[in-house]
Formats: sequence, structure tokens, C-alpha cells
Amino acid sequence: MKEKVLKELYEKRGEYVSGEDLKEKFKVSRTAIWKHMNSLKKEGYMIETTQKKGYKLIESDGKLIPEALKNDLSTKEIGSRIIYFDTIDSTNNYSKRIAKDTPHGTIIISEEQSGGRGRLGRNWISPKGEGIWMSILLKPEIPPTEGMKMTQIAAAAACQAIRDVTALEAYIKWPNDIVVHGKKVCGILTEMAGELNQIDYLIVGIGINANNLSFPKEFKDVATSLAIEKGEKVDRKTLILDLLSKFEALYCHYIMEGKLDETLSIIRNYSAVLGKSVRIIKGNQECYAIVEEINDEGCLKVRYEDGEEELLISGEVSI
Ligand code: BTN
Repeated sequence: MKEKVLKELYEKRGEYVSGEDLKEKFKVSRTAIWKHMNSLKKEGYMIETTQKKGYKLIESDGKLIPEALKNDLSTKEIGSRIIYFDTIDSTNNYSKRIAKDTPHGTIIISEEQSGGRGRLGRNWISPKGEGIWMSILLKPEIPPTEGMKMTQIAAAAACQAIRDVTALEAYIKWPNDIVVHGKKVCGILTEMAGELNQIDYLIVGIGINANNLSFPKEFKDVATSLAIEKGEKVDRKTLILDLLSKFEALYCHYIMEGKLDETLSIIRNYSAVLGKSVRIIKGNQECYAIVEEINDEGCLKVRYEDGEEELLISGEVSI
């Protein structure tokens, strides 16, 4: 019901909709309408209320609210349900809390994260309205060992979407960072729950620094935003829609046909590390190696200075 009320407000955004009309239309009491409005306001929707005229949805322009996205979303399963917040601790944390009773393909978006998380326990700075802070909840029937492929699929989709929407030369710093001019614009945090041979659910958290104009001092040398690199604001909605449609295409190609070839071709074509000398961080140790290959499983084949080869499944690689 709340969703229906919101849809009505969105369709008439900028105009007042009377409580009486909503009551008639949805055959519920005015108190129920009032409660839905309060709950929408708590989620961050700006709803102006006057006793005489009713309710008006304001300031929706530029926000990633589900109604704005749904109208133009071309996917079938990814984004079939969209949960939206003005602010939340972390979209990955929230996804975990609701995962059990929430359908596959649901996406969770927040304008701001108060406790955004990165890999290896790091923080992910997520200022309000500036970036894309989103999680995709997946329930694929694959063993946990295949889970890392979801990161590869997300990285390929994000890199290609950034290139297509902004014309910036984005590269993938294996396995889960997207960089532009050598600095990070996007990070992916994939988390899963399950048993030895079956995933219960998998959360692919994607953070894109879209329109951030500044970064704290300690990140200035390593992080940037699409807007900083392009010199103009990026339309977050266009970017999200493009990313989701690319993600779904690559995901379905893999899940339904068992094929990772399109993902691999993107991550090889736009690799920031292939053929390069990299620093590999393993626990407390640092070693140098040449990246020889991204194999058909998406793993990184490296050769150390002493000639020894290793296949990396995940880890920290610096250029
Ligand atoms: C990294 O590069 O270390 C991964 C960063 C992942 C950030 C995203 S933003 C949306 C989702 N929610 C989180 O708390 N983290 C991920």
C-alpha cells in the first residue's frame, strides 16, 4: 500500500494530492494514509503536508527514488524490487538484515551511508546525494566457490557503464576496483552467506564516487570522482540504469548458460594490471610480481621476481 501511495505522489509530483482522494482511490482510512506518509517521510521522502490541500512530493529531482528509476529500468530480475533510503548505516548491512525474506534481484539504494564499509574492514565515505551507494541481493544456485565471479561481473558492468555514460577511460584494478587516471572511482564489496555447497544469498555492494567534489586529505592521492575527472556532473540515474542492465545481461549469461566470456573480455580489455608489475599484499607481507594472465575463471596468474608462479583468487594488488 505504501508503495502505491508513493507511486501516486510521484506521478503527481509537484502537485498536491488530497487525503480524501487517496482514501477513495485505495479504499483505506485517512489515518492509514497519514501513517504511510509519516513512514515515507521517515525514509527520507520530502512530502509537504497542508491540512487543506493534502500532500505534495517535493525535491525528487536528481534523487534515486524507486519511482524515478522504475519508469526507465529495462531489466527483468535485477531491480524487480527497489528499496530506497535517504540515509542508512550501510546498504550491505541492511541487505543482510532483510536477506532471508527478500526476493532475489532486490536492490537497496541509499543517498547516504553513515557506516559505509569497504574491503578489509575499511570505511567507505558515502556523502549524501553525491555517489551511488547500492547493494544487489542475489540468490543464485551456485556453490560458494563461484561467488567471486559475481564480483567480476559487477566490476565488468560498472567499468563498461562508466565508459559508456561518461566517456571516461575507466580500468579495472583486479578484482574489484575501478580506476580513472590511476585513482579509484568505484569499489565493490561482495559478501555471502551459505553452506559448504550452496549459497543462501550473496550481496554485491557497489560504491561509485559519481559527483563527489572533494575527499578527505588521506584519500586525495588515491580516490577521485567521475565529476572531478570529467569536469562536469554525472547523471546518477542514467549511470545506475546502464549499470543494472549490463549487470543483468552478464549475470544471466553466466547463470543460465554457464558463460563468463563476455565478462572476461571486458575485464581483460580494460585491465589496469594485465602485463604490469604489481605489488601484492599478503597479510603482513609485500611481494612484487608481473601479471601474466587473467584466466578463464577470472583468477590472476602472476610470476614473482624469483620466477615462481601463483594463481590469485582474490587479494590486494597495487600498481
Ligand atoms: C572497497 O573498495 O573496499 C569496496 C567498497 C564498497 C562500497 C559499497 S557502497 C554500497 C555498499 N555498502 C557498503 O557499506 N559498502 C558497499
